[in-house]
Amino acid sequence: MKIAKAVNRLGTEAVYNIFAKTKQLAKEGKSIIDLSLGQSDFKSPKHAVDAAIQALKDGYHGYTLPNGIIECREAVSRKIKSLYGATIDPERIVIMPGGKPTMHYAISFFGEVGGEIIYPDPGFPIYESMINFTGAKAVPYNMTDNEDFSMNPDKILSLINEKTRLLILNNPHNPTGGFTEKNVIDKLVKGLKNFPNLVILSDEVYDRLIFDKKKIPTLLNYPDLHERLIVLNGWSKTYAMTGWRLGWGVWPEKLIEHVFKFCVNSHSCVNTPAQYGAIAALEGPEDHLNNMMKEFNKRRKLIVEGLRSLKGVECSTPGGSFFAFPNVKKTGMNGEEFTKICLEKAGVAMIPGTAFGKFATDNVRFNFATSTENISKAIQKIDKIL
Ligand SMILES: Cc1ncc(COP(=O)(O)O)c(C=O)c1O
Repeated sequence: MKIAKAVNRLGTEAVYNIFAKTKQLAKEGKSIIDLSLGQSDFKSPKHAVDAAIQALKDGYHGYTLPNGIIECREAVSRKIKSLYGATIDPERIVIMPGGKPTMHYAISFFGEVGGEIIYPDPGFPIYESMINFTGAKAVPYNMTDNEDFSMNPDKILSLINEKTRLLILNNPHNPTGGFTEKNVIDKLVKGLKNFPNLVILSDEVYDRLIFDKKKIPTLLNYPDLHERLIVLNGWSKTYAMTGWRLGWGVWPEKLIEHVFKFCVNSHSCVNTPAQYGAIAALEGPEDHLNNMMKEFNKRRKLIVEGLRSLKGVECSTPGGSFFAFPNVKKTGMNGEEFTKICLEKAGVAMIPGTAFGKFATDNVRFNFATSTENISKAIQKIDKIL
């Protein structure tokens, strides 16, 4: 069997290896507190669950248009308008099986041998994996430059050259929890005017998980960029719907026919009843999200204070998402060593910074979308072995 070379260039998400190891240890009777996965412990909103079940009962089981049912695309468009004031034609919106396919498609459209793609490191591992798959050169920018893990526009702009095809941004940021404010995004967008052929993929999947009453400076609010902007978003994080596999992308008008074809050539359409659940999630009351954020706020405080109380651990306060990304260098260990002993000796699972690139060798990622009891216990257990 001769597998195409590109397939061997694909990477993965280390979280799945840790997930498997955690399950194995649990099977062996070891009690593990799992702070590794990128999802919330909240249930999906009841009105979304009910709407999906009702859709199935009403017989909505067939194929839909590859870009999603118009009702769902219109609901996304209305939500964007009500949250951010931006007017987006539903024909530019594509419903996807999760947030991930939007990055897969965007990187496939612009990645090829001879081209370059700029992306955050540490960053969501699929950016680099997909860039390598396409044969383009992966050009990382370091997200640990600033203490609060915000973007550094000068550095990002300095990496652009005539070969650069795509720039990937992610705000709020996984794995660091960094949040980049509007004045910084303004500066970046201003600089991007000098590179009119460069396409931007803005991954805003954590747009509603921002603390301290701050709002995302969504790239959708920079109309000058619209012809070369792809925005990735979805239901996974905001509505605790990761396993539903529901996302949306906003695309430049001239790319829509290509996205449509990619959908036809891969998944045909997104799960039909799930799309009805998705509409209900967008249009229903937001108590679920508000309660979740209230709880995450408490948990953020607890985990940051807990981590800071550990000898040799330094932690900045995450501005968004549900991740804390402490630096463990002063424990005398790097992130990988720290992760290993925490799992094996303390029974606490987390992810080393190196699972997200090459720069964050001294960091580890904790997911704090878990109970306060779990967080407190995890800190106590780590404290004991340190
Ligand atoms: C930054 C970022 N983008 C995209 C995704 C993918 O989201 P989904 O599960 O909806 O595919 C994730 C998931 O963890 C993420 O952290």
